[in-house]
Amino acid sequence: MGEFTGKVAIITGSARGIGKEIAAALAAEGARVVISDVNAEACAETAGEFGAQAIAVPANVTVKAEVENLVRQTKEQLGAVDILVNNAGVTRDALFIRMKEEDWDLVLNINLKGTFLVSQAVSAVMLKQRSGKIINIASVSGLFGNAGQANYASSKAGIVALTKVTARELAGRNINVNAVAPGFIVTAMTDKLTEEIKASINKQIPFGRMGEVKDIANTVLFLASEKAAYITGQTIAVCGGLTMQS
Ligand SMILES: NC(=O)c1ccc[n+]([C@@H]2O[C@H](COP(=O)([O-])OP(=O)(O)OC[C@H]3O[C@@H](n4cnc5c(N)ncnc54)[C@H](O)[C@@H]3O)[C@@H](O)[C@H]2O)c1
Repeated sequence: MGEFTGKVAIITGSARGIGKEIAAALAAEGARVVISDVNAEACAETAGEFGAQAIAVPANVTVKAEVENLVRQTKEQLGAVDILVNNAGVTRDALFIRMKEEDWDLVLNINLKGTFLVSQAVSAVMLKQRSGKIINIASVSGLFGNAGQANYASSKAGIVALTKVTARELAGRNINVNAVAPGFIVTAMTDKLTEEIKASINKQIPFGRMGEVKDIANTVLFLASEKAAYITGQTIAVCGGLTMQS
């Protein structure tokens, strides 16, 4: 018996990267996991790797009808939604002065509106259940305002605020809402950075290196567990000390 045996978890953007690692960690502890991603092919492939413990339900988090279908399919096939991890996210970096309006809209839509839409649809189920855990993946960029990421940092700061509001509104029904703010983690997202930028980032991190996907998954599992029952509305930075909140 794993810590999450009998629990059902939806993880958005879980075809690869941090989301996939979170799904793997929850599945290893007995949860049944819903692999959801805008990339339907990769979504099915990843769910296939987990065998009978996983189902694939592709969804673009910015499209309300697809989000509603994700929650409906989960309920029909697995009977409940105990854990939601809002992980789907993208970057379109540029200096603020040159940032294109379409790149602002795209990043805000996927990262912030997507988190709102999926949270709202899943909350309807959790409110009836009178239990649930929502974990939003923010970023340290939203805490300290990384240059070149006006759209991304704003979307992630918005997620931190949304986490607090939903935590207050849902606490009465025994639903915890928290956020994890990763620092720089080795994934496809950070592979895009040049070696020079990576070296300068590592210099700023007290531990002198980027984190691994398992560092984020471990924190998400803690927040999804009963060990974190009295924690809500919080954002935990997992960043090797890059940011230290006052
Ligand atoms: N890698 C890092 O260093 C880092 C740092 C801080 C925060 N994060 C956050 O962690 C999360 C995961 O990042 P990652 O590094 O694993 O990225 P990734 O690019 O490897 O994975 C993101 C996944 O989200 C999916 N996705 C994109 N748009 C979507 C949409 N509209 N609907 C549904 N799915 C969509 C992609 O297909 C992809 O599978 C993101 O929210 C990201 O902002 C990452």
